[in-house]
Amino acid sequence: TTPIIFDCDTGIDDALAMLYGAGNGADFVACTVTHGNVPVATGARNTVTVLDYLGLDTVPVFEGAARPMAQPLMTAEFVHGQDGLGDAGVVQSTRAVSGDMAAAEIVRLVRSRPGELTLVAVGPLTNIGMALLLEPELPTLVKDVIIMGGAVGVPGNSAEFGEANVWHDPEAAQLVIDAAWDVLFVGLEITMKTGLAAESLERIGASEDPRAQLAWKIMQFYLDVYEGQMGVRTCVLHDPLAMALALDPELATYRTIEASLELRGGRSRGQLIGDLRGYNKATLDPKAPGVIRIVESLKTEEFHENFLRSL
Ligand code: BDR
Ligand code: CA
Repeated sequence: TTPIIFDCDTGIDDALAMLYGAGNGADFVACTVTHGNVPVATGARNTVTVLDYLGLDTVPVFEGAARPMAQPLMTAEFVHGQDGLGDAGVVQSTRAVSGDMAAAEIVRLVRSRPGELTLVAVGPLTNIGMALLLEPELPTLVKDVIIMGGAVGVPGNSAEFGEANVWHDPEAAQLVIDAAWDVLFVGLEITMKTGLAAESLERIGASEDPRAQLAWKIMQFYLDVYEGQMGVRTCVLHDPLAMALALDPELATYRTIEASLELRGGRSRGQLIGDLRGYNKATLDPKAPGVIRIVESLKTEEFHENFLRSL
């Protein structure tokens, strides 16, 4: 198993990522929650609810940043429903969320287990940015860091160029890129190719497994939204892919590139700009500040099989 700190804004696909993790060897050490898809308190409640649903009712949940560093709060209920879980009548857990701050908790956990914990972040990067401000040694203390974010060379979703998780807090995303760690950004350039086709959806819908039923229930709202945008009913697995690559890096091949956030701009603020020209390819160190890895190719079938098995 892989010990994981899961930083999330739960969220339909965040919930699907938890299902994936639970079925594929993730050991959830803690979940830390940020603003993003929904306000942070709603996201924290959803995180507790999904964990409890999976029988992971001892995993602590820490509420974190209520807003981005340098811009007003924006949420995405139009993608995830007012309750963040597709307005499907999911009964919420009443388990208490920890009163401690998510960023401080991330620091405390990685200090207590240096070099052991994998950080998987699938929401805006405010908590991770704050943790980097609190503990500049964070990059040497974590084992791996995998982020769902960005749209390198493809359109955004929240804005023309902006993918939600980086667009919701570009300054925090820049802090993450500036840190001296080997950070993998799993962006729309690959996650938009992970849509589950009709026959897989039928399998989920027909299953009597309670996990499949939860997924099916919360997924309907999300399927409606993507069908409206893409013209096909398909479940795009953004956050589950970040979880999958944290658990099994062999599912993909990668490319190392220089990158930064567009922090000024107008319409382009919040774009993750990756240099795909590859001029410096041979000399790039993935750990260097300003250098990230992105996904080049994915074993999509294997990823889908793992996902379906977890349900
Ligand atoms: C990301 O934004 C959120 O809506 C999803 O949960 C995912 O983390 C996709 O751009
Ligand atoms: Ca998310």
